[in-house]
Amino acid sequence: MSQKSVLFVCLGNICRSPMAEVALRAAAVEAGLALTIGSAGTGGWHAGDPADSRAVAEAARHGVDLTRHRARQVGEEDFSRFGQIFALDQQNLRDLKALAPRRATARLDLLMDWVPERVGTAVVDPYYGGPEDFAQAWDDVARAARCIVARLT
Ligand code: 4NP
Repeated sequence: MSQKSVLFVCLGNICRSPMAEVALRAAAVEAGLALTIGSAGTGGWHAGDPADSRAVAEAARHGVDLTRHRARQVGEEDFSRFGQIFALDQQNLRDLKALAPRRATARLDLLMDWVPERVGTAVVDPYYGGPEDFAQAWDDVARAARCIVARLT
């Protein structure tokens, strides 16, 4: 792999992992760090859908465009195509471990384990919540994005 690559995985790939994807892309551009970045869901119910409108609005509040996202389900090939896979919560991590093929080469971590004060914690699913839950999820993924850039630079 010539360039570092990062995949974020949540449940539906319409809220948390798309926000993480664009937050990291913005942080990497700002830092001048070349990264391949993607996102996917452990579930496939929303495949082909755009990001949740509340996630799009929260990203826009931070000057980041999330209108072009289309959801997809994670596949076995992702475990060799990406160097680093981040699970947004513990259930996502368990599901990814169960799905990982024997030939997997990607490193798999809980996202917030890369944020020193947040080790072992989840980016809580905002889907059934309100705007404040999307704001919290954005704060979490933006903070994680800064830690990822610092570690990969
Ligand atoms: P996400 O949020 O995993 O952050 O994309 C969810 C999106 C959809 C559903 C659950 C969580 N759903 O049940 O459809």
